[in-house]
Amino acid sequence: MVDDTDTRPALILAAEAARFAPSIHNTQPWRWTVHSDRMELRPMAGRQLQVQDPEGKMLLLSCGAALHHARVALDADGWRYDVDLVAADPLAVLRLRERGVADPAAIRSFEQLPARHTDRRTVSDEPVPAAVLDALTAAAEQAGARLHLLTRDQVIELAVLVERAQKTESADEQLRAETAAWVGGDRADGAGIPDASIPAQAPLTTVAERDFGTTGTLVPGPGHDNAASYAVLYGTGDEAVDWLRAGVALSAMWLLATEHGVTLVPISSPVEVPFTRRQLERTIGAIGIPHFVMRLGVPDPANGGPARTPRLPSDQVIELRD
Ligand SMILES: Cc1cc2nc3c(=O)[nH]c(=O)nc-3n(C[C@H](O)[C@H](O)[C@H](O)COP(=O)(O)O)c2cc1C
Repeated sequence: MVDDTDTRPALILAAEAARFAPSIHNTQPWRWTVHSDRMELRPMAGRQLQVQDPEGKMLLLSCGAALHHARVALDADGWRYDVDLVAADPLAVLRLRERGVADPAAIRSFEQLPARHTDRRTVSDEPVPAAVLDALTAAAEQAGARLHLLTRDQVIELAVLVERAQKTESADEQLRAETAAWVGGDRADGAGIPDASIPAQAPLTTVAERDFGTTGTLVPGPGHDNAASYAVLYGTGDEAVDWLRAGVALSAMWLLATEHGVTLVPISSPVEVPFTRRQLERTIGAIGIPHFVMRLGVPDPANGGPARTPRLPSDQVIELRD
């Protein structure tokens, strides 16, 4: 049995580390309750995109990423713990058992938390090394998900689906208003996507990046996406637990990509729109249910990346209990 003078600071540190996690429109739709021996993860309905994400799939992916970030912090601190993926109320519980020696890979992963970010600039002509793609595939599998790398023909199909999904979303006035509440401006409230992370012009890519309905100040760069790899994270189920697990896998892959100098840009609109989600399932040969689409690429070394997005203050995402 470990002393709670050790466990509580470790759990608080893990909840703090989870603040770095990526989330749809930087909504950070989670809340941690930290007890002396465990931490519980819950969704924050008030920060769910009710129009764009009525079923909460993007919320669950985001919460899964936060869960993985917390686990990375505990792993890097040498903690052994049990994970209960309840996928209800709470979504998950992490319960500490004992402390041992930290795995060096976990420490490297922890070091990526503040470095990982969404870089929407175009990528260079250098392809992502095959060894990195293999490692990312293995990371997804280790997290209980699967990764399918799209063939050139499938990338063209994806481009069409992204355009359809974008058209559907852009035609929805309520959705546009919801997006505008989270995206653009200088975001002093600690959430949402600031201008500095949004391209100033639509990047010249085969598969379009998300049109946020506003232009930012990020220079997209001279590149394109010819050397990028597109991948679909998929699984066997469509239940809350499957989306949560996909979020865990997304975070594991993203941190590993960061460690290898590879950028990951989420392209979630074709998964958000039910019609294109079904089409995407066909595109990948009905091997499973698509949970997430991403672009992987080697950034142009000549240009600096975007500034970091803001985060909510700790007291809005972490609650301490006895
Ligand atoms: C579930 C999910 C869906 C996302 N979808 C998109 C997307 O379609 N397009 C995009 O440019 N970024 C997307 N993002 C990236 C978020 O906008 C980004 O994580 C958030 O603004 C925080 O910024 P950061 O990743 O730089 O920390 C998504 C992230 C998550 C977790």
